[in-house]
Amino acid sequence: MRVAVFGAGYVGLVTGVCLAELGHDVVVRDIVADKIDTLRRGDVPIHEEGLAELLARNRERLTFTTEVDEAVDGADVVYVAVGTPPMYSGDADLSAVWTVVDELPRIDRRIVIAMKSTVPVGTGRAVRHRLDDRGLANVGYVSNPEFTAEGTAVHDFMHPDRVVIGAFDDADGDLIERLHDGIDAPVVRCDVSSAEMIKLAANAALVTRISFINEIANVCEATGADVLTVSEGIGLDRRIGPAFLRAGIGYGGSCFPKDSLALKQLAANSGYSFQLLNAVIEVNELQKRRVIGKLERRLGSLRDKRIALLGLAFKPGTDDMREAPSLVLAGRLLSEGAEVRAWDPVADGAVHLHGVDIAESALDALDGADAAVIVTEWPEFRELDWEEAGARMRNRLVVDGRNLLDPDELRALGFEYEGIGRPIL
Ligand SMILES: NC(=O)c1ccc[n+]([C@@H]2O[C@H](COP(=O)([O-])OP(=O)(O)OC[C@H]3O[C@@H](n4cnc5c(N)ncnc54)[C@H](O)[C@@H]3O)[C@@H](O)[C@H]2O)c1
Repeated sequence: MRVAVFGAGYVGLVTGVCLAELGHDVVVRDIVADKIDTLRRGDVPIHEEGLAELLARNRERLTFTTEVDEAVDGADVVYVAVGTPPMYSGDADLSAVWTVVDELPRIDRRIVIAMKSTVPVGTGRAVRHRLDDRGLANVGYVSNPEFTAEGTAVHDFMHPDRVVIGAFDDADGDLIERLHDGIDAPVVRCDVSSAEMIKLAANAALVTRISFINEIANVCEATGADVLTVSEGIGLDRRIGPAFLRAGIGYGGSCFPKDSLALKQLAANSGYSFQLLNAVIEVNELQKRRVIGKLERRLGSLRDKRIALLGLAFKPGTDDMREAPSLVLAGRLLSEGAEVRAWDPVADGAVHLHGVDIAESALDALDGADAAVIVTEWPEFRELDWEEAGARMRNRLVVDGRNLLDPDELRALGFEYEGIGRPIL
């Protein structure tokens, strides 16, 4: 089939490149000319495992453009993968989605819009009305939400747990299902609103688990239990399972915070207070800040203390710093008067962090530091020469926000070590 993808971001690029891998002809359209130029040169503007290789392998089936007409020319399907960031109110900002819908030229054949962007329940119905008002009854609409995780997005797209297809018209749903031929996964066929809710509910379930285990971790700290052992013990229960039971300094990224807020607001707008989700969000906010208390307990006032932040991306395997805990941490540390030096293997801290000194390497970040904080669980930090790190630091203190390191090894090297939900010595 011929597919147009609107949006060359994390989701749009992965979708376009993976659909090309499945044998389709794909045109990716973005409004940012630089991104399109980069892609035309064969380079990838984001860090995503396996994406560059897949793009190179499918070059002849991939075109990149800034032009709407060129993108939709001959297309059977138009994927919408533009951003839906939170507005001040917490609701999702759908302006980019509406731009795509309104820019769609009049086409005298069947063509299907497939929504990959995460949107509030009811968006599909609103788009359907808008298309009908424009006399575009020949344009179908399908909700086909994306569940890929940054860092493993290519693998997740090709090997999903399920493909969700919500359609007003069965034939449109059939078309999107055929587009996925070659992918071996259960297909959930449903109405548009349920498909939209599946996406929001899935992310709400995941963040609930994260805040749950973080609260268990906080109680572990207060009572002397070890959250790693507790996670293993409860994860072996088949009714619970082991996924998403890693305690840490909270979730971030472009999806979890925004989608949980959007669902909370969606509920509130219809007069329902989603109390559980409200608590999940608040727990996450507090969790990011607990690191400050841990540092203060060991160092006293943080004024003029030098703190090294190891990792800036919201998780390993990506350069994405949107809503990353590092942003909150850096801001809090600076406002306490600390000097902050940071390093990440791929994320570009200089673009997002003001007042933070960006180091050349992890060891460089640790030079003269009073404490190191593991913010992102990059394997690089596990493999770091901690003996040399200790020699370079002014004070051997590690606050491990991801429980990445072995406390015994660090303590044997003379470090004070504090993880999340681990026994405090
Ligand atoms: N990032 C993820 O892992 C992930 C996973 C699942 C779902 N989602 C959802 O997918 C959507 C996209 O997320 P993302 O992370 O890829 O965002 P992104 O910001 O990386 O990419 C969005 C792209 O859309 C482009 N764009 C804006 N208006 C456009 C237009 N009119 N035509 C063409 N391109 C346009 C932007 O320039 C940008 O390149 C969001 O709704 C997000 O919630 C994201």
